[in-house]
Amino acid sequence: MGRYPLPAFLLPLLLFFQGISIAQSSIPARYDGFPYGDNLGIANGIIVEAFLDPLCPDSRDSWPPLKQVLLEYHPRLSLLAHPFPLPYHDNSFVACRALHIANILNVSATYPLLELFFKYQEKYYNGPTKNLSREAIVDDIARLGAEAVGNSLLPAFKDGFINSHTDSATRTSFKYGCTRGVFGTPFFFVNGFLLPDAGSALDYETWKSIIDPLLRNNGEGKDDAVSSF
Ligand SMILES: *[C@@H]1O[C@H](CO)[C@@H](O)[C@H](O)[C@H]1NC(C)=O
Ligand SMILES: *[C@@H]1O[C@H](CO)[C@@H](O)[C@H](O)[C@H]1NC(C)=O
Repeated sequence: MGRYPLPAFLLPLLLFFQGISIAQSSIPARYDGFPYGDNLGIANGIIVEAFLDPLCPDSRDSWPPLKQVLLEYHPRLSLLAHPFPLPYHDNSFVACRALHIANILNVSATYPLLELFFKYQEKYYNGPTKNLSREAIVDDIARLGAEAVGNSLLPAFKDGFINSHTDSATRTSFKYGCTRGVFGTPFFFVNGFLLPDAGSALDYETWKSIIDPLLRNNGEGKDDAVSSF
């Protein structure tokens, strides 16, 4: 707590800003991503950033163990998930846009919608949607979204796909991933540092082996940490 003049999670933001003078992207008003639950710990604890494609099987498989560690280590661990639509998943941009729409209509529905995408993901793969029109896919995804945000919001959810703000927010998520060197999903950063084995799901034991030493060095085992120098 208070060991650094800047919270560690701002570092990538600073790097992002430095990149702006070269890259022509525009700076979003808010840091990209969806904080999981109440994000009180975000400045003090360990920050996990997850770049997830709602239509990627490895992202889907990575979610249950990550959710388990989040619940277990809360509030010392926070998650910021960034939707990252892989270009070879035809419906992924629409799915990521739906997450942004849900986040606007009912913030507590964002993760439930992500879980619905994981649950019904196979329905939205390239093969099964090959003969469907774009319109039919957007309509189906809006219905799924309304299941999460509340069914009375179905018309608002559909309008969300016309609103240019949700389009640009989804582009920002993608571009932000690009500035961090993300080229697959899931990619995990812990306190701003990329974990090895990017693109694969991590199991519960692996997460524990990453987080436990950080927590020991971050207060609980402070004396040990000092004496080891
Ligand atoms: C798509 O349409 C073609 C031609 O009608 C058909 O042969 C194929 O089975 C359809 N594919 C799916 C996934 O519905
Ligand atoms: C917002 O979403 C949550 C999670 O799906 C749901 O429980 C809640 O009823 C929704 N709120 C409204 C006003 O529909």
